[in-house]
Parts: sequence; C-alpha cells; structure tokens
Amino acid sequence: MRLGLLTSGGDCAGLNAILRAVVQRAIQGYGWQVVGIREGTQGLLSRPPDAAELDLSIFDGTLLRQSGTILGTTNRGNPFAYPLADGETRDRSAEVIEGYHELGLDALIGIGGDGSLEILRGLAQQGGLNLVGIPKTIDNDIGGTEVSIGYDSAVSVATHALDHLQATAASHSRVMVLEVMGRDAGHIALNAGIAGGADVILIPEIAYRFEKVAAKIAALKENGRNFALVVVAEALRTEEGQPVQTPHTGSSLTYGGIGHYVGEKIAALTGAETRVTVLGHVQRGGMPSARDRLMGSAFGIRAVELVAEGKFDRMVAWAGRRVVDLPLEQAIASYQAVDPEDDLVRTARGLGICLGDA
Ligand code: F6P
Repeated sequence: MRLGLLTSGGDCAGLNAILRAVVQRAIQGYGWQVVGIREGTQGLLSRPPDAAELDLSIFDGTLLRQSGTILGTTNRGNPFAYPLADGETRDRSAEVIEGYHELGLDALIGIGGDGSLEILRGLAQQGGLNLVGIPKTIDNDIGGTEVSIGYDSAVSVATHALDHLQATAASHSRVMVLEVMGRDAGHIALNAGIAGGADVILIPEIAYRFEKVAAKIAALKENGRNFALVVVAEALRTEEGQPVQTPHTGSSLTYGGIGHYVGEKIAALTGAETRVTVLGHVQRGGMPSARDRLMGSAFGIRAVELVAEGKFDRMVAWAGRRVVDLPLEQAIASYQAVDPEDDLVRTARGLGICLGDA
C-alpha cells in the first residue's frame, strides 16, 4: 500500500499533529509507505510530482508542537479552473489525477476545509481515486463535524488578544475593536468574544445597528466602566450591506478591514477614543492547542483505519464525543455558520454581551 498525504487550503495550527498520527499509524501499524505531497494539489501538477516518502524520522519531538504544515499548502490554484497568466483559467484536473498515478498511490488522505475537500472529491470522482478527508479550518464552518482542526487554537489566540487589549483599554479609557478571521462564519468572534470578556460581538449571522452598540457602550460608562472591548467578525457587512475586502495581487479577494469601519462609527457615535486591531494571520499560527493536537491525532489515526477498511469517499469527524466518519459529499454540503439560536449565542446574551440587535 502506498498512501498519499497532502494538506490543502489555508494552514492552521494542528496540521502537523495530523501528519504525525497518519505516518505513525500507516507505517508502524500497517507497514505501508507514506508519500507526502508538497503544497496540496500543486505537488501533483508538478512533473515529476513534488512529493517525498515520509518516514519515522519526522518524529523529532517537535512536530506535534509546530503550527503550519511541513508539507506546505495552498489555497489558490483550483485544478478545475487553474488561473493562467493572461487571467483566463484552464482545467488541469486530468494532470493532478495523472500525478497521483505517477506516484503509484493506492489511496490519498487529504486534509482540507470545505473548499479543498470539494476539489479533492471532484478529482477523486473523476479519476477513481481512493480518498479519505480530514476536516481542518480555523473558520469551523464544515458541517458534519463538531470540530475542525485549527479552530480551537485560533479561538485561543483571539482570546489572548482580548486579554492583552483589556489592560491597555482600561489604562487609556478606550474602546478597543478587535477584528478576527472566520471567513463567512462568526464562530471565532462569538467564542473568543465570550471567553475574552467582550462587551460587544458583531457577527455576520446577526443583523446589527450601531445605535444598539453605542447604547451598550454608554450603559457601560454610566455604570462606571471606562473602557469597552468589541469583537468584530471579518465578514460583517457595513450598514449598507457591503462586505469589506482587500484585493491581493495575483489572487482573489480576502475579507479584512471591517474593524476600522466599526471603530470609526463607534467613535463618531459615542465620542470615545477608539482603536482597532486586525488580528489576521496571527490566528493561524502559534503553538497548537492541546485540543487541536488531540483531535488532529484522533482524526489521523481514524483516517488511516478507514483506508485499511477500504472505506473511501468519506470524511472523519467528531460528533457526540466520538470520532465518526460520514460521506464526504454530505460533509461538504452541510456548511455550518453560527446558528442565531445556538446555545453560545444565548450564553452571550445571558452575559449581557451586546450582539448589535438588542
Ligand atoms: O479560511 C481560513 C482563513 O484564514 C479565513 O479565516 C480568512 O478569511 C482567509 O483564510 C484568509 O486567506 P489568506 O490566507 O489567503 O489570506
């Protein structure tokens, strides 16, 4: 058995814990060969394919603790619509499938978010590849699993950012706005906001009005509080419903900048001195949390076992305190943003945190 292994989409903390678990189980448990493919499907497009056999020497004692991915990754270059220099796109899916066969692979474990897993599934369907998926994304928006690798670490980073901002906010009597990632979902903002003691949390799933935010800040002041912490999810729209995005040379748009818009509005409405921190990619680094290491290890082991059982086109997941697996198609189709009726939304409301709507 020759098992291919790749990481795809944006990196996050905990990916190396998955790689470690897969390599350990595949080699020590089953005696297979494991081939690490560089930079996701990009490695399968190269000729010869950009890949190398992984052996137990990767267990140098530090891997589990490192964020990023030792295989490299990409969140660009969809092989079904591969961007060309002239701005056009070309379907290069057949080349990726050819790369898989050139490496003599019998199965592939792909670690990705919903976008990457959908692309990998498309390739597997087209080329008859034996694929097992492992969910990772700081955005935690993959349905079918209660846990995606990288999310817990990102929430910790954002929570620590609030811990740091609180002292300086109180020292200067300021409103501090923290913009966090999460793409279209407000999970990081909601969770870090609660854990980090935010006074206001604005997420794209709940419509907001600045008057409500200003009223909350005024109420805090009336009660003797000289500062406020505001968490904003990057995909929050302006009051006119516009997303705030940043263009990047040679690649697509990403969210970023809504925090400044929110900060200016708050300053104008309340007169409070306001400062804005855009946390950005810091949320994807740092030491993986214990939970991401643990879940990454559990997912890696289960994924290898699925391959051994010949169960393909499936994704491993965490549900009801167990590692389970479900059809990849189902997992990809069930996008999970914040449910406004979610218990954590209720928790935030119960704590008196303003969500912008009341
Ligand atoms: O999907 C993960 C994520 O970090 C999002 O939260 C964010 O919007 C995006 O990726 C940033 O993408 P990039 O790494 O291309 O800047």
